[in-house]
Amino acid sequence: MIQESHIDQVIKELFDNLSFTEEPAGLYDPLRYMMAIGGKRIRPRLCLTAYALFKNGFSQEILMPAAALEVFHSFTLIHDDIMDKADVRRGVPTVYRKWNENTAILSGDVMSIESYKLIAKAPSGVLPKALELFSTTAAQVCDGQQFDMDFEDQDFVPMEDYLKMIGLKTAVLIACSAKMGAIIAGASDEACSSLYRFGYDLGLAFQIADDWLDTYGDPQVFGKAIGGDIVNNKKSWLMTRAYEKASDSMRAQLKEAMMMPVDTDEDKETKIAAVKAIYAALEVGEEAQKEIIRLHNQSMAHAASLDLQPEAYALLENYAKKLIGRSK
Ligand code: IPE
Ligand code: IPE
Ligand code: MG
Ligand code: MG
Ligand code: MG
Repeated sequence: MIQESHIDQVIKELFDNLSFTEEPAGLYDPLRYMMAIGGKRIRPRLCLTAYALFKNGFSQEILMPAAALEVFHSFTLIHDDIMDKADVRRGVPTVYRKWNENTAILSGDVMSIESYKLIAKAPSGVLPKALELFSTTAAQVCDGQQFDMDFEDQDFVPMEDYLKMIGLKTAVLIACSAKMGAIIAGASDEACSSLYRFGYDLGLAFQIADDWLDTYGDPQVFGKAIGGDIVNNKKSWLMTRAYEKASDSMRAQLKEAMMMPVDTDEDKETKIAAVKAIYAALEVGEEAQKEIIRLHNQSMAHAASLDLQPEAYALLENYAKKLIGRSK
């Protein structure tokens, strides 16, 4: 059985050695910048972990598709930071802030294309399935991002709509990462589906944790500015749940807070503090933590349905534990 430490090593080597076109520098420098800073790389890690459940070693057939998932994800972050007006990511200036919006748009576009070049290196026998999964997922991420922006202009969204939105913007790519590993390893359709569901529920938990960290995280560790969701009137899990359980008078307070100006840093701090006070009164932070654990358990039930050997199950268990226990 492949060990977790081996997966860590393979991921490190994969991204250390991944190279991209040199010129024009204005197009490829931002791409290299994003890939070199590196995030947690949870998607390629999940892809390799799922593959390791069925195979005893890694070869090129899985490494390039695993890299594709990270390149695609990093592309979505470059565009997401323009959409969310975010100045810092992974502890450094965002691409559109370091360069400019046009550069971030075009470098993002070319990264999306680079990700397709990498996924196309999947073995020819499974290539149609891999491409279908990847393309469907990529379009779903765009759908989710549009819902996320649409919701900024709504006072309130039902929890069901919030879950659908994060399912699209975040969970499907994590689900796709797990299933991609299984498809390329030649696993049964049933196993591929269980791994997809495992990744999907874990992805929901991951986004709720991201929402929690956006309000309560340590900016030094999280690598992103705190309170951005509140400033942008995002319908995060916290906001959605707060509105759902608030009394009429508290709902009015929430609406009022959402209309507060955010022109200066001081304005932003005042607005963040106002919303946090409502969250505290309603105890939605604590509830989010419980929801993360519930979804984690749901995801492990899908892992259990795979009937794996204990060592293989432990790989998934440890992966999931790390993911939801995150502070960055
Ligand atoms: C950030 O993803 C966007 C979300 C889906 C919450 P990650 O938290 O995986 O970001 P990096 O790649 O580690 O920076
Ligand atoms: C990101 O959601 C989802 C995608 C990038 C597709 P967020 O907007 O919450 O991600 P962060 O917090 O900026 O990383
Ligand atoms: Mg966003
Ligand atoms: Mg964002
Ligand atoms: Mg976020």
